[in-house]
Amino acid sequence: MTDELTPETPDEDEQPIKQRKNGLYPGVSDELAENMKSGWADTELRDLQPIEQAPNAARRRAALSARFPGERLVIPAGNLKTRSNDTEYSFRASTEYVYLTGDQTDDSVLVLEPTKDGHEATLYRLPRSDRENGEFWLNGMGELWVGRRHSLTESAALLGVACKDVRELAEALKEATGPVRVVRGHDAGIEAALADKVTAERDEELRVHLSEARVVKDEFEIGQLQKAVDSTVRGFEDVVKVLDKAEATSERYIEGTFFLRARVEGNDVGYGSICAAGPHATTLHWVRNDGPVRSGDLLLLDAGVETDTLYTADVTRTLPINGRFSDLQRKIYDAVFEAQEAGIAAVKPGAAYRDFHDAAQRVLAERLVEWGLVEGPVERVLELGLQRRWTLHGTGHMLGLDVHDCAAARTETYVNGTLEPGMVLTVEPGLYFQSDDLTVPEEYRGIGVRIEDDILVTDDGNRNLSAALPRRSDEVEAWMAGLKK
Ligand code: GLY
Ligand code: MN
Ligand code: MN
Repeated sequence: MTDELTPETPDEDEQPIKQRKNGLYPGVSDELAENMKSGWADTELRDLQPIEQAPNAARRRAALSARFPGERLVIPAGNLKTRSNDTEYSFRASTEYVYLTGDQTDDSVLVLEPTKDGHEATLYRLPRSDRENGEFWLNGMGELWVGRRHSLTESAALLGVACKDVRELAEALKEATGPVRVVRGHDAGIEAALADKVTAERDEELRVHLSEARVVKDEFEIGQLQKAVDSTVRGFEDVVKVLDKAEATSERYIEGTFFLRARVEGNDVGYGSICAAGPHATTLHWVRNDGPVRSGDLLLLDAGVETDTLYTADVTRTLPINGRFSDLQRKIYDAVFEAQEAGIAAVKPGAAYRDFHDAAQRVLAERLVEWGLVEGPVERVLELGLQRRWTLHGTGHMLGLDVHDCAAARTETYVNGTLEPGMVLTVEPGLYFQSDDLTVPEEYRGIGVRIEDDILVTDDGNRNLSAALPRRSDEVEAWMAGLKK
């Protein structure tokens, strides 16, 4: 959508819009410009209550403050990315910013200013559009184009943090003295303003800290993850109900069906849905989703709804498209199920993070030896990692705001760490026989199975957040039959 009044090169100079109109806005008469300044109601929202996660965000900022005393900390939300001309890709605020504010507004930046007792937080963001200088209707970021923003006063009330105009921030950062760190990769303008004051190593320490801080989830986060999973369960049910339509079209029908549920109940999908029918199931991140869906094949569906607060589920089910596993499909499926059961049983407080991976891999190696696909004994297979030709990936990962959450955490706190109550991780073993794998009998080729659940570590073991979706092969068949009636 364009408008003849929209400048072709908006925002290129710093002149007030009122002056620009003579040269750049030929369609705007003085009378219209005057007219547009007034006649607008006062829409300021008063008596706003803080958002639910405001106290959690405040606690997280306090922990961050304690880790970096005396240093200025800059955490940008990120900017819109142009797709073409005046359309943008959909925006997703940086995980670090969301974690520390509960907010998701583009162009915003959280700054923790050091004080003698800790830090003072300020949120820099775009204010309401000015009516007097015409920016609200003549500028592409004006509220008439992009929608009403919260005023700085409203934002402060909602988020519990003082707010200022972000257009003042870059200059302020350039002039400021003292140690400073920024979370990189989200806002090139802010990074440029800080270029001669920061180092990659110190900034990385900030990013690592924020990744490690997220390893244990609070009650609010666990509630959001359960919500994400519950919507995801409904999305899987939606897909089963339309498998005949997918057979008549393609994997895209499955992608679109799940996406509808994600957009209606949440913000988005948390990652590109993997809708992999037939041999596509052996491609780990199959997101092209442009292939046929055929009766007699399996569908590997790996998808997760992201909530409006940006927590995502990550669930996989491998389903017989016609509702019944063949004997060989069932044999492979049941082996993966058994491996997943062993993996889930190894998730408990005090266990090594690696335990659930090792437990699942052992079961898969045993079955591969039993089926004669690799020469035993099992200990030799595991020692040399020979099962990995068909198991391919790690058995899980942390889950939260990011699907692969806490990815910047150090090896000693994550992969070599110990499970604690409040951690949420996926357990997702798989077996994949590529179509061109000449080392396995022909009937195995093109079969891929993964089963993935989202597991909360509790005080005395674990809770499967995605238990509402059946996993055992006979239960999967019964569940599908019930939905297709
Ligand atoms: N959906 C990506 C993964 O399972 O890790
Ligand atoms: Mn997944
Ligand atoms: Mn996963």
